[in-house]
Amino acid sequence: MKKYFLFVLAFSLLFGTFNGARADEKNGERIFKKYCVKCHGEDGSVSEYGRNIKPRPARDLRTNRLFIAPAELRVIIKYGVYGREMKGWENMLTNDEIIDVAQYVRTLKYTPDASAGAQFFKAKCFGCHAPEGAAKKVFRAPDLDMSPLGAIEMARVVRFGRHGTMMGPKVELFSNPELANVIEYLQSIKK
Ligand code: HEC
Ligand code: HEC
Repeated sequence: MKKYFLFVLAFSLLFGTFNGARADEKNGERIFKKYCVKCHGEDGSVSEYGRNIKPRPARDLRTNRLFIAPAELRVIIKYGVYGREMKGWENMLTNDEIIDVAQYVRTLKYTPDASAGAQFFKAKCFGCHAPEGAAKKVFRAPDLDMSPLGAIEMARVVRFGRHGTMMGPKVELFSNPELANVIEYLQSIKK
């Protein structure tokens, strides 16, 4: 949890530093090929090397556009992920270069599969969120077809959990494509 609060703090402090600049996507692509493909793979779907990184593998970057806000993405690239092999790039790249590579990352594409998301939901989330699930009452899990959350906010709850509730963080349990599929499904059942 501490990690997440530090992240939010850094995020709000740094929001301003990136304002106003325009991204050069071609330059972003060059930077990505030079520094990022080693772990994240040519197309962002994670290299063989990246899959075997400890303590946690590299994450699929094709889904960024779907559930990580642009400013949040720049902060992750600049400061990295605490305690992981994703180092911050602030000493290697200028702010403009970070903007460029972030812009390029946002062009990578993954098309989420809602029916795969539905199956995943039944297997991993039904225990608490099924309409008639016993755990639903015990843990007070809401009906997700009534959720007011858009994709980015919803993904944030699923990735990092809701502090102090039974909705724990799932980012370490599942891959980004699995999360993208389940978010796509949950957005599609909204009433
Ligand atoms: C040495 C391997 C390595 C290199 C090189 C690397 N990364 Fe990472 N990256 C990782 C790992 C490992 C994670 C997963 C961290 C975690 O467990 O949350 C990660 C996570 C990320 C995330 C967060 C994704 C998410 O869904 O939470 C972004 C964005 C990212 N990297 C972008 C980049 C960019 C852009 C570059 C090049 C400038 C880069 N990375 C270079 C290993 C690497
Ligand atoms: C251990 C029980 C449990 C499991 C398993 C669980 N959840 Fe939750 N979830 C909860 C509870 C409880 C809340 C309500 C948290 C609160 O009070 O804000 C919640 C809230 C949520 C919300 C926020 C809804 C809103 O409108 O605020 C989303 C989205 C969500 N869960 C998705 C998932 C997904 C996707 C999975 C499976 C990967 C999952 N949950 C697995 C218990 C669970």
